[in-house]
Amino acid sequence: MVAKRVVLAYSGGLDTSVAVRWLIEQQHVEVIALAVDVGQDGGSIDQAAIVERAKAAGAVEAAVVDAREEFAGEYCVPALKANALYEGRYPLVSALSRPLIVKHLVQAAHEHGADAVAHGCTGKGNDQVRFEVSTRALDPSLEVLAPVRSWGMTREQSILYAYDHGIPITATKEKVYSIDDNLWGRAIECGEMEDPWAVPPPGVWSLTRPGATEPRDLVIGFEHGVPVSVDGRALGLVDVIETVGRAVGSYGWGRLDMVENRRVGIKSRETYECPASLALILAHSDLESITLERDLAREKARLEPRYAELVYDGLWFSPLKQALDAFVDTSQQHVTGEVRLRLEPNSCTVTGRRSPDSLYDYGLATYDDADSFNHEDSAGFVRLWGLSVETWSARQGPGREATWSARQGPGREKEWSARQGPGREPT
Ligand code: ARG
Repeated sequence: MVAKRVVLAYSGGLDTSVAVRWLIEQQHVEVIALAVDVGQDGGSIDQAAIVERAKAAGAVEAAVVDAREEFAGEYCVPALKANALYEGRYPLVSALSRPLIVKHLVQAAHEHGADAVAHGCTGKGNDQVRFEVSTRALDPSLEVLAPVRSWGMTREQSILYAYDHGIPITATKEKVYSIDDNLWGRAIECGEMEDPWAVPPPGVWSLTRPGATEPRDLVIGFEHGVPVSVDGRALGLVDVIETVGRAVGSYGWGRLDMVENRRVGIKSRETYECPASLALILAHSDLESITLERDLAREKARLEPRYAELVYDGLWFSPLKQALDAFVDTSQQHVTGEVRLRLEPNSCTVTGRRSPDSLYDYGLATYDDADSFNHEDSAGFVRLWGLSVETWSARQGPGREATWSARQGPGREKEWSARQGPGREPT
């Protein structure tokens, strides 16, 4: 099939602006540019400027969809409920936004009678995987074009291409960082940080600039695993995320510097700043420590890394992810309550948690007069708990010597024979 109309995931940056024109000239298609607002630029994207730029590049149509509520409620919240951290650390900032962007691309393609969608990802990253796998999950009949992957231009050549074609851009020739951000955090790659030994230059940070010095508390309220309030004030989801992010970020906390494994097999040095998501996951998983029954908590903890991998690997729309969401949702029934975070320069720690559904039983836990625990139950329980190990020790382990010398008497041979030797059968 040769595509005629394409909906391009447009950011307003150099690559996707050049992509608009390149698709028109090289692929002979009409381009509809679609930008999805997931809270990038600290929640202040300039819709009019983006539309104007896309049109100047040659798009027949350009639009910006405000998807912040949807992103918060249907993408960040499920990830929060699952305490989703890829390789134990990265809260999946970019990985979470891609399936949502694709959902809107596919919708727009249907509305505009387009037969293809396009993205501006390179061939080396995870984002191409997420865009394409998600598109195939939602509408396999759509073609996917990847101009940046196909055109083989260097950054410098793209800038020249933009100049030659009168495409307005703000990019400069210096090697800069590749940045992707949204409500859940901000990813900063490339530049001098491609050397994993290089210290990230201070200028790369924007959400986590330490300024506040006075320690303070931040109390986050949850209902069924969803954050609903800050310091007792009920807030909408987007507001909760932004409020927590601002507060925590002002103490300089929420940075990550890691080398992660991309889906395409490359190890990549990444820096992130995720004050909101990391603080929320910290608080949420702490609240689970008093509201989830032990076995449920342990099974959930076992599934969490798998959940994060699926999302990272572009399998947001997949049956396993769907099934895990159902499990996680069920687990959140009683994850209601509050967690107190203490903010200090470069630090964010939990200093308290409470819940109307708490499984923490003071009478069982205390050593004072209020103790309601039946101590006698423990003696028999502990004996049976250790019985198997005791048996092993006496026959095969370190306790063997002791048992053996105790049995130096005459009945010993017979006893051995009865257990393991020829006398075993008749006994
Ligand atoms: N490594 C992260 C991920 O795969 C961040 C990707 C950021 N994307 C970007 N265009 N800078 O999710």
